[in-house]
Amino acid sequence: MNKDLIKHINSAFKVEFNTNPILVFAPGRINLIGEHTDYNDGFVFPAAIDKGIVAAIQKSESKYCTVLAVDKNEKFKFLLETIKPIENGDWRNYVLGVISEIQKKRITLKPFEIAFGGDIPRGAGMSSSAALENSIVFSLNELFNLNLSKNEMIAISQKAEHNYVGVKCGIMDQYASMFGQKNSALLLDCRSIASTPYKIDFSEYQLLFINTNVKHNLSESAYNERRLVCEKIANLLQISALRDASENDLLNIKNKISEEDYQKALCVIQENKRVIKASNAIQKNDLKTLGALLYESHQGLQKQYKVSCDELDFLVEKAKGYPDALGARMMGGGFGGCTINIIKKDALDIFKKNIAKAYYKNFNTNCSFYIVNLSEGTRVVENT
Ligand code: GLA
Repeated sequence: MNKDLIKHINSAFKVEFNTNPILVFAPGRINLIGEHTDYNDGFVFPAAIDKGIVAAIQKSESKYCTVLAVDKNEKFKFLLETIKPIENGDWRNYVLGVISEIQKKRITLKPFEIAFGGDIPRGAGMSSSAALENSIVFSLNELFNLNLSKNEMIAISQKAEHNYVGVKCGIMDQYASMFGQKNSALLLDCRSIASTPYKIDFSEYQLLFINTNVKHNLSESAYNERRLVCEKIANLLQISALRDASENDLLNIKNKISEEDYQKALCVIQENKRVIKASNAIQKNDLKTLGALLYESHQGLQKQYKVSCDELDFLVEKAKGYPDALGARMMGGGFGGCTINIIKKDALDIFKKNIAKAYYKNFNTNCSFYIVNLSEGTRVVENT
């Protein structure tokens, strides 16, 4: 975790509000495998990272709440009694959404002042939104002793995104950001909301993230549309979610749905199986199989689920050309953001150099590379 970030947010808070805040860090996340399975009650394999959002919070003497977005240098004042979503409200809706969900639980909040900022690369698909939501709900819980459990808090964060931001996301991002464990990824069952930690040490291999630095429009509506397709097919199958469907079940109703929808549901069913296969491979330290599953996952998300884009496909295709790259795939919701790659450590430099050159040549823009540490979840931190 970035100590300078904590210092920076702490002093920005003090300059603005003149009191001593409680400080909370909420991390972003990566995901080994299991994309678009979470809202189908399936399995995912995320981990919290050492980059995230720091929130500094304290009670307010006035009747207003004030939020300072330090990175954007934007300030926002509101009354707790009259909150509602703001059109094109941007980061404000994450904050307001969390407050609204807390209020729905008949909890009375008092005015507060909060400053936040972070170091998650922009548009990387590493869930800065879940980190922001979690940082807000966790800091309010601390400040007012609300006694919310971590499970209650992630449900609040998720619903804030549904109701105020308009993205009908699953629970993966909020869960990983809240419950992350050091050096581990979490095999999460999104039905029971229970996870098993897997220590991730790939010895001579390394997880490398490559940011396309693009975020295509309409990704949010495309996300919600995909979710609706999955729910429609689950309804047809008379099951509560695609998690309960087999490929055979799906074949039985193939003539009742379009080929496109069939492929999407098939992708979810297969991706869910890949997560379990991946966890077995990690247990056996079988990185080759894990890598192959990553390539398969990309293929499914690209061709069947149709949530990839040229830039992501390009990066995955390039990785395939390197024997020292065991696997690669798009990560997160899609339409931009990062690929996750398993690369031999001693081949990293040359791999990065070649990919950077090829990417620029093709898209006339730069990609960025990140290596992250897998870290603990949302917590109170000190300014040391
Ligand atoms: C976004 C959502 C998650 C999940 C992923 C795709 O990150 O917030 O809930 O659905 O997309 O796996």
